[in-house]
Amino acid sequence: MTANPDEGATTATAGRDELSGAGADQDDIVGAGAGRGEIVGAGAGRGELSGAGADQGEIVGAAPAPDGPVSVIDYNERIPNNVGLATDRKLQRALQAWQPKFLDWWASLGPSIPTRDVYLRTAIAVGRDGWANFARVPMQQYRWGIFLSERNPDRTVGFGRHLGEPAWQQVPGEYRADLRRLIVVQGDTEPASVEQQRHLGMTAPSLYDMRNLFQVNVEEGRHLWAMVYLLHAYFGRDGRDEAEQLLQRNSGDADKPRILGAFNEQTTDWLSFFMFTYFTDRDGKYQLGTLKESGFDPLARTCEFMLREEAHHMFVGTTGVQRIVERTAALLAAHGTDDLWDLGGIPLAVIQKYLNFQFSVSLDLFGSETSSNVASYFTAGLKGRWMETRRKDDHLLADATMQIPVVAGDTITTRTVPMLTALNLDLRAEYVADCERGIRRWNRELEQTGLPHRLTLPHEGFNRKVGAFAGHWVSPSGELLAAADWDGQAAGWLPTPEDRAGVAALMQPHYEPGEFASWIAPPGVGINDLPVEYDYVRF
Ligand SMILES: [Fe+2]
Ligand SMILES: [Fe+2]
Repeated sequence: MTANPDEGATTATAGRDELSGAGADQDDIVGAGAGRGEIVGAGAGRGELSGAGADQGEIVGAAPAPDGPVSVIDYNERIPNNVGLATDRKLQRALQAWQPKFLDWWASLGPSIPTRDVYLRTAIAVGRDGWANFARVPMQQYRWGIFLSERNPDRTVGFGRHLGEPAWQQVPGEYRADLRRLIVVQGDTEPASVEQQRHLGMTAPSLYDMRNLFQVNVEEGRHLWAMVYLLHAYFGRDGRDEAEQLLQRNSGDADKPRILGAFNEQTTDWLSFFMFTYFTDRDGKYQLGTLKESGFDPLARTCEFMLREEAHHMFVGTTGVQRIVERTAALLAAHGTDDLWDLGGIPLAVIQKYLNFQFSVSLDLFGSETSSNVASYFTAGLKGRWMETRRKDDHLLADATMQIPVVAGDTITTRTVPMLTALNLDLRAEYVADCERGIRRWNRELEQTGLPHRLTLPHEGFNRKVGAFAGHWVSPSGELLAAADWDGQAAGWLPTPEDRAGVAALMQPHYEPGEFASWIAPPGVGINDLPVEYDYVRF
């Protein structure tokens, strides 16, 4: 996270060097801490697996001068890169043939509102303390490129049966199909979210927020480039075919939908968008975290750099929801009612329902609690655990066990299974602990306003379509119910058409610099030390 001199004023830098290179635990955090005056849990316990030192994620600070190895990205190339594309004519030609298709896709399914330019961050170097460059850029001229983290020549495979062997610089033949699949599934989510969010610019609550949306969008576009590079460079003809397909499947398309369910849902309003960037981009962070451990070194390095960009997406979600809660809390305290529609605010009960929805569909992205595929990916060294190298065990897990939830009759209980088969749940548990940190942070807005209300994460079994809880009817508090009973109460748990209509009615564009919609508080500080009132987007 030291990578990004992101958003806003410098706050603290305590303990940051423990984190360098760690990739992503440090999330939310990003560069400097827009909008949060407070810094929490500075430094303490941050090197540990998530769960240690709650809120440690939130620390922020200005980017330091780079002091690690740095490879500068060559922006003179048609495709900016730090992978030496100029010396690989065949790969260069293949990617140059894909580039116009990407640009067509961006023009037809990227942000739908026309703009003149946007104040955007572009990565200009990678390496341990890679940093970023801010400038006004016409979006169609954004420099999407291929950037991998610096190579560590001594890197070894960190887990599974190849533990301790040199990391692979080429795809091992026996793992070719599995690696290709992992890359395609990850790659498919990147353009999907751009498609899901394409109309949001039409109703942005401010230019500041519109800019953050576009920053997320261009980086998701670059993440697609990252996966397409791997497919072209390492998977031959199959890889080229898969790269084509990544532009042909589209979110919500009846014939060619995106691969994963949550990426075919529409993101129709900004409350959904902020919940999406909080909960669903965070799933992405955890998936990338497992691929960052991969024995296939180019994949690991690609994901490590993506995680640096991903931190900004977490930031947008965390602070976006926080600012909505701040406004809701103020209205609730002033008027003594949660019926805030006519007052221009979003009722807290509706915020909770959106939260319930996005959290539950995001949990489905982790797959079933047990999976023989995930066991073989681990044993083969393709996909590790979150923070694999920091775990204090044998990294083989041949004898380890884990408890997983099961529904037996009318109770929710647990069962012991080989840990290797339960790694989806292991990752999901890390994710849930991380999600809890945001809830605590949002609740501080309510506490500070003196309100007794609190937001909560629903039970992991609530509203699930995948895994142990699929086909069962679990309430947000974890009660197992009869289907009819659950249905009868669902309107209190998940957004109703009326709730969505109420939110939609509030989604009016605010395009004057410094102007904010009534339902969201302005951030404390602007982007990259600029004022909140800056015209981040020009038409
Ligand atoms: Fe991404
Ligand atoms: Fe993202």
